[in-house]
Amino acid sequence: MGICVNMTKTPEQILGGDHLVSPIIHRNKLLPKPKIKHATPDHNTYSIDKPTIEQDSGLWDQVINGTRVFTPHEGQRKIINSEARFLAAIAGTGGGKTALGPIWLMIEIQKYPKSDWMVLAPTFKILERATVPTLIEKLAGTRFEGHYVEGRYNLPDGGKIYCLSTERPEGIEGGQIRGAWLDEAGQMSHKAWIAVQGRLGLYQGRALLTTTPYAVNWLKREFMDRYKNGDEDYFCYSWSSIDNPAYSRKEYERARKTLPPAIFSMRYDGRFTRMEGRIFDGFDPDYNVRPCTYRQEKTILVGCDFNVNPMAWILCHRYVNRLEVFDEIFLRNVTTPVALNVLYEKYKTHQGGVEFYGDATGSARNTSAALSDYHLIYRHIGMQMLGRTVHFPKANPPRIDRFASTNGMLCSESGDRKLHVNPHCRNLINDLEGRFYKLGTREPSDSEDLGHMTDSLGYIVHRIWPIRASFGVARHNVIKTFSGGY
Ligand SMILES: Nc1ncnc2c1ncn2[C@@H]1O[C@H](COP(=O)(O)OP(=O)(O)OP(=O)(O)O)[C@@H](O)[C@H]1O
Ligand SMILES: [Mg+2]
Repeated sequence: MGICVNMTKTPEQILGGDHLVSPIIHRNKLLPKPKIKHATPDHNTYSIDKPTIEQDSGLWDQVINGTRVFTPHEGQRKIINSEARFLAAIAGTGGGKTALGPIWLMIEIQKYPKSDWMVLAPTFKILERATVPTLIEKLAGTRFEGHYVEGRYNLPDGGKIYCLSTERPEGIEGGQIRGAWLDEAGQMSHKAWIAVQGRLGLYQGRALLTTTPYAVNWLKREFMDRYKNGDEDYFCYSWSSIDNPAYSRKEYERARKTLPPAIFSMRYDGRFTRMEGRIFDGFDPDYNVRPCTYRQEKTILVGCDFNVNPMAWILCHRYVNRLEVFDEIFLRNVTTPVALNVLYEKYKTHQGGVEFYGDATGSARNTSAALSDYHLIYRHIGMQMLGRTVHFPKANPPRIDRFASTNGMLCSESGDRKLHVNPHCRNLINDLEGRFYKLGTREPSDSEDLGHMTDSLGYIVHRIWPIRASFGVARHNVIKTFSGGY
């Protein structure tokens, strides 16, 4: 089957067949001959038609006369039409970013069918769940259909697409490619983007970054600002979720009503916004996110928010005056014993003991039966075998003290960053980026799952490195140390 990316025509014109504009199988004789700016094709050259008329046909992924037709919406079309070397589609959730990736890639592959390519996602989970399935699905039935085996998509003409996660940027090193598509690039580290540029050097290859903005990070500073300052190698285009005709306006409006404006503007309108009112303004993913390794001989500090949905725990190691979060447990509709079982199964060979930190209410309230959460930890056989202590305050400190302590560790007055988070702790990272105060107050405007992960973190940080942002009576912490064999 052929493939057509329709940039100009109405369904009637497509069905009529005469004026199909396809960069892949048809040359549109009505349009001026396109310029291909960035590389000299080595063989089997195809031209790419650059449409001048912009009009939506409304046909998305339909087979017409044996040709698979995609009609990009305006934002997608702007990206496809750009001749810049590095492109960023920065758009709202559900805006059609991931769908655009394989289409752009097919247009590139047709220029160099025997070359190698990369498709990257920030985590293996995103790669396996969203990016690779979309790649396979969009290439299926087209002349680019090949087969996917263990992280490699073999193209019919001998080219290869390496599908990788950027969790470890070292994994990207080695080999030269013609082009790369980076899905959810805003969640990747700056190091990963630097590594990808290294792979593209020899052929002056191109890259497409598709993402929702997550934070004002390298993507803004090293990409968007370059484009705005007139660097011709860069092109950025942003659009809203609802610019995708398939996205529900009702859902968009619901999000507008419930989310803090800065978050809504980033996640649904694809705009980088100044993060006024951010609770964890000390957090910068470029500096606070880095690989943090689990060590069997070191004590695991577990920060616990005893909530049923979600049950949100973080797992850290302490290095004198630093804290590294190496893992998180995020479970839906579970009780404390179930979460303890999950923790035990994952770390049952652990040698260094486990310390639990939580809030005062954990000692009274419970999420399951008649016992308090701390008693459930205390009685859990697996935790007894690992050796556990339980740390909680007699009364909860003011929330702003916990926030101040966490911010102090994330970035001190003198700029020291003593708290690091492993890139795969996505729920914690989202929470650090996504918690805001209600406008003009010191009250968090938490909705849905927000708040639990950073509360768990705050219990540990405030207990070990307390900062008093509020004024009031000093409170004492209760520490219970239970040895094994209770
Ligand atoms: N131009 C288009 N016209 C109609 N439907 C589209 C268009 N582009 C994408 N879609 C469809 O919209 C849906 C969402 O697209 P996609 O998954 O690419 O969005 P996304 O921006 O990657 O979302 P997320 O933020 O969840 O990663 C998919 O079903 C996709 O096939
Ligand atoms: Mg996507």
